Amino acid sequence: MIRIDNNLIEALKESKSIVFFTGAGISAESGIPTFRGKEGLWNKFRPEELASFNAFIKNPKLVWEWYNYRRKIVHEAQPNPAHLTIAEMQNHFKDVTVVTQNVDNLHRRAGSNKVFELHGNIERNFCINCKKFHNEELDFSTGVPKCECGGLIRPDVVWFGEYLPEDQFLGGEKAAIESDIFFVVGTSVVVYPAAGLIYTAKASGAIIVEVNLEETDLSSSANYSYFGKAGEILPNIFEEYKLNTNL
Ligand code: OAD
Repeated sequence: MIRIDNNLIEALKESKSIVFFTGAGISAESGIPTFRGKEGLWNKFRPEELASFNAFIKNPKLVWEWYNYRRKIVHEAQPNPAHLTIAEMQNHFKDVTVVTQNVDNLHRRAGSNKVFELHGNIERNFCINCKKFHNEELDFSTGVPKCECGGLIRPDVVWFGEYLPEDQFLGGEKAAIESDIFFVVGTSVVVYPAAGLIYTAKASGAIIVEVNLEETDLSSSANYSYFGKAGEILPNIFEEYKLNTNL
């Protein structure tokens, strides 16, 4: 157990609106690989060959193999204590919002019901031509699945060079502006515009709390930084809060 600052617990007691801004690290303990670092996906694979629209047009089969591989990992994974703690906190705070860069759907599966997905959701697909959603089980037996209109079907994730879904970004931005405490959990804080929301929250007066295995560019300007596993630190913070409020 790490020591949680009393001032953070006091701030939690006063807070109405809490945001959890999350990245791949929060799902690492569920067995889903992160992108950066020694074991990161982008160390073994080239993003420009797998996660861009041009790559998809050039070799849709390869891109789909990559997403089906990741989808399988996600389906076999379960939410971990970090996801579950965030979901449980909904019962104790007026407003708990998740703004995630993850596409794995684990926050919703854990029970969080206010979730903004900045980079899409690997469970969904849509046609590149008519944009119709195809969230049914796709059939790959005769090649890359196509829509009735003839367009190729792609996963509903944000690729390099693409815009973030506007409604999700605006929802995340509003939550950041309104937040009293803004937790930044398991993200390397290097991918923009997503990471910019941290600074939006800070500029709007939120207390910034970082939870990560290691230091990031944010650490020196965060109000509190806790280094360790999200699946241990978030339950740790919440337990401390409950002890202090006699829950
Ligand atoms: P990264 O892989 O860049 O960073 C993961 C972060 O999680 C690192 O800072 C790790 O130190 C930390 N971490 C790992 N395990 C952890 C644990 N158990 N507890 C706490 N922290 C842990 O992932 P993201 O920051 O999410 O974009 O990457 C941002 C975006 O880059 C992704 O959404 C993806 C990628 O390209 C798109 O696909 C558009």
